[in-house]
Amino acid sequence: MKICEVESVCKIYGRGAAEVRALDDVSLVFEPGEFTVISGPSGSGKTTLLNMVGCLDTPTSGRVVLEGKDVSTLGERALAHVRAKRIGFIFQSFNLVPVLSALENVETALHLARFSGNRRKTAAEMLDAVGLRDQMRRRPTQLSGGQQQRIAVARALVKHPGLVIADEPTANLDSKTGTQILDVMRQMNESFGVTFLFSTHDPRVMERARRIVSLHDGRIAEDRTREKPSAAGEVALTSDASNESNA
Ligand SMILES: Nc1ncnc2c1ncn2[C@@H]1O[C@H](COP(=O)(O)OP(=O)(O)OP(=O)(O)O)[C@@H](O)[C@H]1O
Ligand SMILES: [Mg+2]
Repeated sequence: MKICEVESVCKIYGRGAAEVRALDDVSLVFEPGEFTVISGPSGSGKTTLLNMVGCLDTPTSGRVVLEGKDVSTLGERALAHVRAKRIGFIFQSFNLVPVLSALENVETALHLARFSGNRRKTAAEMLDAVGLRDQMRRRPTQLSGGQQQRIAVARALVKHPGLVIADEPTANLDSKTGTQILDVMRQMNESFGVTFLFSTHDPRVMERARRIVSLHDGRIAEDRTREKPSAAGEVALTSDASNESNA
């Protein structure tokens, strides 16, 4: 089964003279285990596309099918349920709860997903996996930006979602820390087989992607896939004609 199928999606904000066509007939398929970047200039529709795939918003027309289920017509409650169970989110500004410890922040995701096992133990194991074994009891303000983003990665992954969505995950991090976070995400992608979908302006993120979808004015300008999994800095890309229906 595909992780996600985006079928002829349009998203229009506003009306009349103020109308903005943020996505214009976008069709894409994401397979399980992808590590894919959505790139493009500011305003090209990256966040809008991630919001459609992440069930944060619904298209004006077209369909989004997530793990075989059409989510484009669901109401707010049903969308919230899909998000809590099946999608992990990583944001530019981390979005952690400041009064909770790292461990409690990760446990919250299990609570929302109605995870019935041992939440504390499961959260602790995931924090260990992202390299925060010794910082679990600290609150976000007692940690560096890179450590906070590791908490966010653990929080996104702990419920074993089908898909992790990361909107500009390295934009608030310095270059070295951003690279380390990407390596953590790549490790998680490989060890858990979770599909990752990023938006970014950051060339370091693009270097590590297997596939790069470029948007321009809400349309797909290019869709490239590497022939083999990339190591850092490897830049040989091939064009995949079958993915260029919108180009
Ligand atoms: N809620 C909204 N209401 C009206 N217009 C919006 C809304 N959200 C986005 N837009 C418009 O839709 C277009 C696409 O915006 P989007 O945020 O998806 O771009 P982006 O590629 O993520 O840009 P950036 O790189 O700056 O984050 C832009 O023209 C933006 O102004
Ligand atoms: Mg954006």
